[in-house]
Amino acid sequence: MGTWAWGDTGELGNGYFGSKLEKNDLQKVASKAIKAGFTMWDTAAVYGMGHSEQVLGEVLKQYDRNDYQLSTKFTPQIAEDVENPVETMLEGSLKRLNTDYIDLYWIHNPKDVEKWTPYLIPLLKEGKIKHVGVSNHNLQEIKQVNEILGEAGYKIDAIQNHYSLLYRSSEKAGLIEYCQENNIDFYSYMVLEQGALTGKYDSSHPFPEGSTRAEIYNPMMQNLESLNNSLKIIAEKHQASAADIATAWAIQKGTTPIIGITKSKYIDDEIKVTNIRLSNEEMNMLEKLGDLAQVNTRGEWEKDMNIN
Ligand SMILES: NC(=O)c1ccc[n+]([C@@H]2O[C@H](COP(=O)([O-])OP(=O)(O)OC[C@H]3O[C@@H](n4cnc5c(N)ncnc54)[C@H](OP(=O)(O)O)[C@@H]3O)[C@@H](O)[C@H]2O)c1
Repeated sequence: MGTWAWGDTGELGNGYFGSKLEKNDLQKVASKAIKAGFTMWDTAAVYGMGHSEQVLGEVLKQYDRNDYQLSTKFTPQIAEDVENPVETMLEGSLKRLNTDYIDLYWIHNPKDVEKWTPYLIPLLKEGKIKHVGVSNHNLQEIKQVNEILGEAGYKIDAIQNHYSLLYRSSEKAGLIEYCQENNIDFYSYMVLEQGALTGKYDSSHPFPEGSTRAEIYNPMMQNLESLNNSLKIIAEKHQASAADIATAWAIQKGTTPIIGITKSKYIDDEIKVTNIRLSNEEMNMLEKLGDLAQVNTRGEWEKDMNIN
């Protein structure tokens, strides 16, 4: 379960997603998700500058810590000028999340791999972080991180990259295959392209103006029409939603989607997804339509995985 949009809660209002989420509603999201077995929560210190972690920590307070897992990130760009910037950022996350350990701790992007990776080792030794992952790193950077961790007897357990029907850079660069061969979980993010592949938004029903995602996706909604129509047709056949089909595609490609969850009704979709099996024909057609849309949804924080 992804909680970037939770940074837009309450007084923070519009933010990146323009979601205007309410803590009470998010409480319902968490309750329904945990009951359904979706227990892993992804956030980052940088989401709403701590606000996503804060709200998530408050919402999860009523559950036993053993009943859910936390995944949060060190973002080099907001590192403080202190003796141990990674530990300092982690301590802030632990406080906001009301916990003394993180199940899966990520380096958010590959800015200076050699500098930041070694800081993870003492945190692993102390048990403050249980597993390590890297996000937005290319194959060469992943290998470099693993070499540094390997010297201390540790390894990367997970990769987290943008992966959707519109953005398959990690697949084309051989990263998904590498993960499968090396027992590394590949978590795919923005599988729904922030709502653009859910059928909820189209050129007649654009994202409400005033958010970053509206600025990015509204100009390309026309190009996504064929893909979105196909997602809907396939969804009907499987008695599911368009979002389910985009998610099922990512699962069938061997990845674990992190879905940005904003409403409790979306949990019903998540439950359905686990039972959907798309045919080869459906998989191929969706990929072809994704390519034919000819849009570039690469985030401004991302780089093409084929380029060093
Ligand atoms: N490591 C990184 O650099 C990085 C970057 C981006 C994201 N992430 C992680 O990945 C997570 C997912 O990415 P994301 O939240 O940006 O985008 P996403 O999962 O592609 O899309 C999330 C949006 O889709 C809509 N949605 C979700 N489930 C739906 C359903 N069943 N039916 C209809 N609409 C649905 C919601 O929009 P509405 O609220 O408008 O309905 C929601 O805000 C993030 O929350 C974050 O945890 C990581």
